Amino acid sequence: MEFKNLKLTEKDDILYVTISRPEAMNALNTRFFQEMDEVVANLATKENLKVMVITGEGKAFVAGADIAEMVDMNSEEGTKFSILGQNTFRSLEKLEIPVIAAINGYALGGGLELAMACDFRFASTKARFGQPEVNLGLIPGYAGTQRLSRLVGLADALYILLTSDMISADDALRIGLVQKVVEPDELMDEVTKVAKIIASKGPNAIKKVKAVVRKGIETDFITGSKLESEQFGSLFGNEGEEGMRAFLEKRKPNW
Ligand code: CAA
Repeated sequence: MEFKNLKLTEKDDILYVTISRPEAMNALNTRFFQEMDEVVANLATKENLKVMVITGEGKAFVAGADIAEMVDMNSEEGTKFSILGQNTFRSLEKLEIPVIAAINGYALGGGLELAMACDFRFASTKARFGQPEVNLGLIPGYAGTQRLSRLVGLADALYILLTSDMISADDALRIGLVQKVVEPDELMDEVTKVAKIIASKGPNAIKKVKAVVRKGIETDFITGSKLESEQFGSLFGNEGEEGMRAFLEKRKPNW
């Protein structure tokens, strides 16, 4: 498929996905979800890629779902559009490799929901965050009601959801919605730096950390711990052995 909403670049084992529809503040339409689904599907065949970075072109990361596309939808179509986005974001969240959001500007509505489906978030000082759906007489549709409270806690989530207040990058950092705030011209360098750190680690260990943490948070402690033991054990005799031997032999591991 020829991409109309996404620009892809691969460098040093990192896949950069830039959402590029700046004339509409990168609003998410049906086509965007089809393109993102294809990116996610293609990643399964690309062993070399170790980290994915998502950012936006222009003033926005993403200013939400496409209001112009949604305005004429009936109830059934609205539900379908919600499920479409939920499924794409879920598959993004379930990608084996880590996904980092580089939030360059507005992350509103579906844009914040996309950022929250990533594994962690770095933001520029210019970024602004919000779930302004109630301004439109709507509620979030891409699992924002679920992810926001899990990420920042009930009261901050409800404050953001009920008021539509657009919060600053510093406030997002304070409540744990983003992990780092940097000057706009440093954003991609900082994200690349952390992506390269992750890419240098044991690749299977990285995938297993993500899988165990993400599965663990959706289950109970005992089940999650059992999964951890299984995955811990699965690294012995291969990647883990190489990492441990490299440590003992005072050399870099050869993954
Ligand atoms: N959908 C469609 N078009 C959008 C859009 C969106 N979410 N956000 C911005 N645009 C369009 C505008 O309509 C405008 O188009 P025209 O030039 O053709 O008029 C263009 O992008 C530029 O936007 P503005 O002129 O409004 O730019 P601004 O700098 O004055 O304001 C903004 C920027 C604060 C982000 C403002 O555009 C805005 O408030 N956007 C809507 C944010 C929003 O409500 N998001 C939630 C969407 S609903 C949702 O996401 C539901 C869900 O969870 C599934």
